[in-house]
Amino acid sequence: MSTSTQSKPYKIYNQSCYGLEGISDDSIDAIITDPPYGIGFQAHEWDKALPERQIWKDCYRVLKPGGYALVFSSIRLMHHLMLDLEKSGFRIKDVLMWAFLNGMPKSRDVGLDIDKELEVESTKVGTYNYVQGYKKGGADNYYAGKKKYRYEPASEEGKYYQGWGMGIKPCYEPIIMVQKPLPNGVNVAQNMLEHGTGALNLEDTRMPYEEGEGKVGHNPHSKGRVTGNVLRTFPFKDGYDKFFLVPKVRQHAEEYNYHPTKKPVELMEHLIKLITHEKSTVLDPFTGSGSTGVACVYLHRSFVGYEMDKGYSEIAKNRLLAAYKGGKQQDMF
Ligand SMILES: C[S@@+](CC[C@H](N)C(=O)[O-])C[C@H]1O[C@@H](n2cnc3c(N)ncnc32)[C@H](O)[C@@H]1O
Repeated sequence: MSTSTQSKPYKIYNQSCYGLEGISDDSIDAIITDPPYGIGFQAHEWDKALPERQIWKDCYRVLKPGGYALVFSSIRLMHHLMLDLEKSGFRIKDVLMWAFLNGMPKSRDVGLDIDKELEVESTKVGTYNYVQGYKKGGADNYYAGKKKYRYEPASEEGKYYQGWGMGIKPCYEPIIMVQKPLPNGVNVAQNMLEHGTGALNLEDTRMPYEEGEGKVGHNPHSKGRVTGNVLRTFPFKDGYDKFFLVPKVRQHAEEYNYHPTKKPVELMEHLIKLITHEKSTVLDPFTGSGSTGVACVYLHRSFVGYEMDKGYSEIAKNRLLAAYKGGKQQDMF
């Protein structure tokens, strides 16, 4: 097994996570991970299929009794993942919704498809700049500014169905919250005393009240309301925001990090705070570019990660080292 770091509060293994080689039974406090969604995102090989159920059995093995796991998923395949988690022994506790406004709709104009079907040439009505994400290899490979034609349907039938499409804009990602059950006959207090797991850290994840707001409820807490299962990017138009707000990372936001599905560190920090405390060790079997690990370093939690891709694991190692050396102030991520 090749480890990148010694005597630091984190380890990243550049190898497959299956088996979680090197991790003892009942030794991990929390798992926070963003596995392949199985939707073939941007044709990446590693996203072609959901992980095998085996990895969730491995996760169950290493998690302490009462420990929580937060697993990102896609809307389309979360039911498979939930079943895999349940069949591996976990209890489904909740599904958090990370809402954002900058998801990409996967659609096209059916009116144009109808033109094609009828062998009618659609009408060119202008051009637009095509921008699609960031590609391995640096700024030169950024697909910016490619000109593409804009078309409108020309056939009568195509015009009738102009603007019909194939899917709505994705505005949230589900995060499945599961727990390894407490041993028979052990209550939460006993488990917390024995392992430090079994409950949620609601204290450190409270959402502050708006200044001057009359506190509602029969027992308002001075630090704010209990965090909800909706985490969202932008305030909706319903007054001030009572939810945790965090934007999606744009693919070209970090030129040194070409991972196509990196998660915002701020979001990971919130999730880490929710299911751990400072003595906890967090596992991410699908580390990618290391956002979970960076957030752990910031929050003084120990971290163990697995990433099978050499390039991504190098990015993760560099990001964690920079966070570890520089602290948050000097952080550029
Ligand atoms: C959705 S990405 C994680 C992105 C990460 N959250 C971030 O912020 O960069 C999933 C990652 O899992 C990795 N992966 C897929 N199968 C794996 C396996 N069996 N073992 C370890 N890593 C794997 C992929 O290479 C990919 O980088």
